[in-house]
Amino acid sequence: MWIKHKPPWELPESEATPESVWRGRRQIIKSLGFGAAAFGLLAGACREGVPNKLFKSGAQGDKEAIIVPNVLWSDQFPAERNNTYQLDRELTPEAVNATYNNFYEFGSHKTIWEDAQALSLSPWKITIDGMVTREKSLDVDELIRRMPLEERLYRLRCVEAWSMTIPWTGFPLAELIKFAEPTSQARYLRMETFMDKDVAPGQTQSWYPWPYVEGLTLEEASNELALIAVGTYGHVALKQHGAPLRLVVPWKYGFKSVKSITHFTFTDKRPVSFWEQSQGSEYKFWANVNPEVPHPRWSQASEKILHTGERVPTQIYNGYAEQVAHLYKDMNLPDEDLYR
Ligand code: MTE
Repeated sequence: MWIKHKPPWELPESEATPESVWRGRRQIIKSLGFGAAAFGLLAGACREGVPNKLFKSGAQGDKEAIIVPNVLWSDQFPAERNNTYQLDRELTPEAVNATYNNFYEFGSHKTIWEDAQALSLSPWKITIDGMVTREKSLDVDELIRRMPLEERLYRLRCVEAWSMTIPWTGFPLAELIKFAEPTSQARYLRMETFMDKDVAPGQTQSWYPWPYVEGLTLEEASNELALIAVGTYGHVALKQHGAPLRLVVPWKYGFKSVKSITHFTFTDKRPVSFWEQSQGSEYKFWANVNPEVPHPRWSQASEKILHTGERVPTQIYNGYAEQVAHLYKDMNLPDEDLYR
C-alpha cells in the first residue's frame, strides 16, 4: 500500500505563515491600493514563510564541490552562447550553485554534492521507447554528439521560493523528439532517472516512488525553451546537477527538471510524476510558476535570490510568458492544477 510522505524540503508547519494570515495581508494591501509599492510588506510575509536556514548552507559556496566529470563528450565544450535568452539579474556564482542542490537519490539535505560523486557516467545507456517508429538504445556520448549544443542563460525558480540564474549547455528537447520519431498517437513524453540503490542510498527509502519520473505534454516538450542540459558554466554538467542528461524547463518549478535521465518514453497517457505521486494534493503535473497561486502552505508571490539573499517579486511563468503562455490559454483547468 502506498504511504504518503511529505518531501523533507517542505516548510515545517511551524515555520510557514498560515494562509489566512498572508491572504489577509494581501487583502489589506489591495484595499489600500498600494499595489507594487507594497511589495516590502508582502516580502515580509514571505520571509516568515521561508526560514532563513534554507539559505545558509549554500550561501557562501565551496569551490571544492566543482568537480567536473572527465567524460567522452568533454571535447564538446564550451558551446557557443545563444544570446536570445537574456537575464535580468547576475549569474549565481558556480560555487553556490554546486553546493545547494535537491537530488533525493543522494539524500534529502542540500549538500548532497559529495554523495553524488558516487554516480558513474560511463557507460550510460539512453533508451527511447514507447510510441516511436523504432525503439532506440544508445550510449549517451553518441546521443550528445548527434545533438546541436548551445549555451543558454536561464532563471531557475524552486517551489521552495528561492531562485538561481544558471548558464546551461544543452540541446533543445525538440531535437531529441525529432530524433525519436514519435508516432501520431504520442501525446506525452515521460522521462525517468537511473535506478541503482547501491549508488544512490536515497532510493532505499521505500516511501518514495522511485525512480524519479517527470513528464511533459509533447507541445511543452517541443517548446523552444525546453532544454536537455549536458553542461553548466561552460563545462560538463556536475554530477550533483544531474549529469549526464537533465531536463531544464525554466517556466516551471524546479522539481519538473528531472536529473540523470536514462529513459525517454513517448506515450498517450499522462505520466504521474514523482512528487505528484508522493503528495498529489500539493504538487501537480503542470507546476507552472505563478506568483498569484500560493503553495497550499506558503506564498509564491516572491522569491529569494539565493546568493544575495535579496527578495524579488516572482514573475508569471518565471518571466517566460512570451514563450509559453499560449500553451495553456485554452485549458479549462483550475489555477490550483495549472500552477502547482
Ligand atoms: N531530479 C531527480 N532525479 N531527483 C531529485 O531529487 N530534484 C528536483 C529537480 N530534479 C530532483 C530532480 C528539484 S526539487 C529541484 S529544485 C531541482 O532538481 C534542483 O536542481 P539543482 O540541484 O541542479 O539546482
